[in-house]
Amino acid sequence: MTAIFVTSSGTDIGKTYVSALLIRQLRARGLPVRAIKPIVSGLDEATFAASDPAALLDALGEPVEYENAEDISRWRFSAALSPDMAAAREGASVDFDELVNHCKARMALHDPLLIEGVGGLMVPLDTQHTVLDWMLALENIAPLLVVGSYLGTISHTLTTLDVMNRHKLTPRAIVVSESLSTPVPLEETVETIRRFVDVKVIALPRNGEPDLAGLFL
Ligand SMILES: Nc1ncnc2c1ncn2[C@@H]1O[C@H](COP(=O)(O)OP(=O)(O)O)[C@@H](O)[C@H]1O
Ligand SMILES: [Mg+2]
Repeated sequence: MTAIFVTSSGTDIGKTYVSALLIRQLRARGLPVRAIKPIVSGLDEATFAASDPAALLDALGEPVEYENAEDISRWRFSAALSPDMAAAREGASVDFDELVNHCKARMALHDPLLIEGVGGLMVPLDTQHTVLDWMLALENIAPLLVVGSYLGTISHTLTTLDVMNRHKLTPRAIVVSESLSTPVPLEETVETIRRFVDVKVIALPRNGEPDLAGLFL
């Protein structure tokens, strides 16, 4: 199976929720799924339980312990900022080639492998590269695009998809994860997005569990 790359139109949208749901569904089908979230920012030991690597460990059925975050998230920063800025606060940086090699090595080792991106599609990773560049460099991935249902999401969604399409990064599906503040019923936003795109659009209500694994099997 091609590695699944979970990306988004922004941050705090639902990438981790969707990743955890998908991991559980793949495991329920007996698949030996592995997951990585190579870059995480806003991580500290005191609040580890609420972090992305903790959610992924939990979904993988592994002990949710701070030490285990190292394997999931090779680049860990404490400031809750974009990776380039968070790294700079610690006098560090994300080496783009190393990031790509790290992911490719994991892709060769694990099938299926789920990679959770970071922030939105065009968030900077270093002074030169964005998540989009990262996805392109991995060459052989199945992207899953997670968007919200907040006011403004339709433009954000179509903009993100347009950029992906221009780079031939067609998502397997767009998952519309219901935002806390939603101006219209989720289905209305989903139907509107559907009119403008030619990829599958899946509604994900709050705490919902639509089948996502089927997209990749
Ligand atoms: N469909 C949903 N149902 C319930 N909670 C959700 C849903 N989508 C997102 N959340 C919650 O919203 C918050 C932000 O989502 P998260 O998955 O962490 O976003 P991201 O990974 O894109 O930054 C988290 O607390 C997450 O559990
Ligand atoms: Mg996340």
